Amino acid sequence: MEKTKFGYKEIDQKDKPSKVNQVFTSVSNRYDLMNDIMSFGLHRLWKKQFIRLCNLSNKKNVLDVACGTGDIALAIKKQKNSINITCLDPNREMIEICKEKFLNSGITDIIYENSGIEDFEILENKYDLVTLAFGFRNFTNHEKGLRNIYDCLEPGGSLLLMDFKKPSNDIYSKLFKTYTLNIIPKIGQIVADDLESYKYLGESIQTYFLPKQIEEMCLGVGFECTEIINLLEGVATIHVAKKL
Ligand SMILES: C[S@@+](CC[C@H](N)C(=O)[O-])C[C@H]1O[C@@H](n2cnc3c(N)ncnc32)[C@H](O)[C@@H]1O
Repeated sequence: MEKTKFGYKEIDQKDKPSKVNQVFTSVSNRYDLMNDIMSFGLHRLWKKQFIRLCNLSNKKNVLDVACGTGDIALAIKKQKNSINITCLDPNREMIEICKEKFLNSGITDIIYENSGIEDFEILENKYDLVTLAFGFRNFTNHEKGLRNIYDCLEPGGSLLLMDFKKPSNDIYSKLFKTYTLNIIPKIGQIVADDLESYKYLGESIQTYFLPKQIEEMCLGVGFECTEIINLLEGVATIHVAKKL
């Protein structure tokens, strides 16, 4: 049986989707609030930069993978309403909050796919942009997920992938480790009464791939042109990968 990481634990691949699903069901109600608290509001700035890099002026069909509560998809629609957007996420509770946010903004023309990207029945060459923010860590089969993303992009299309990364500077790296492993679970316990889910989220950041490894995985499934953009002392990165 193939193994995969769930925080610091090595588990059978078949068990990961349900464990990750439990985490996001548990955090869904407080997800947006916790994002603001844990990142000191910085995730909003990172998401703005991410949207700028999406270069929406020439985009028509977008797939937002791991849409969660919909921040990225909503920002895309608010910037360019004519874009057709599909929001994909395996977690029902997160996607329900996403739907509510769109309805509250008066936007109704969204397609929702309640699925992990690995199991998504893709339509080849359908999208000109795939966005993936803070979701890649949670995949069960990263290669299969990336391959599905590659296949559903049309030639000329891009993947923008954003996530945390451990800073390369030693001092920042130690501070970041203490923050992710000790402080984030405590905040989760106090604000959301949920230490275990935030322990996983902290551990999943610490055990995440290096940017170079992500770049290699992108090249491995066929992407041809990749760029890595570091955000805030290297605690987060944006990968831009192109299908030529
Ligand atoms: C940290 S949230 C990110 C939400 C949103 N993109 C944002 O930036 O706020 C991670 C999301 O990844 C989703 N997810 C987990 N496994 C996934 C998979 N295999 N494919 C797609 N999404 C997945 C979770 O359900 C969760 O909603």
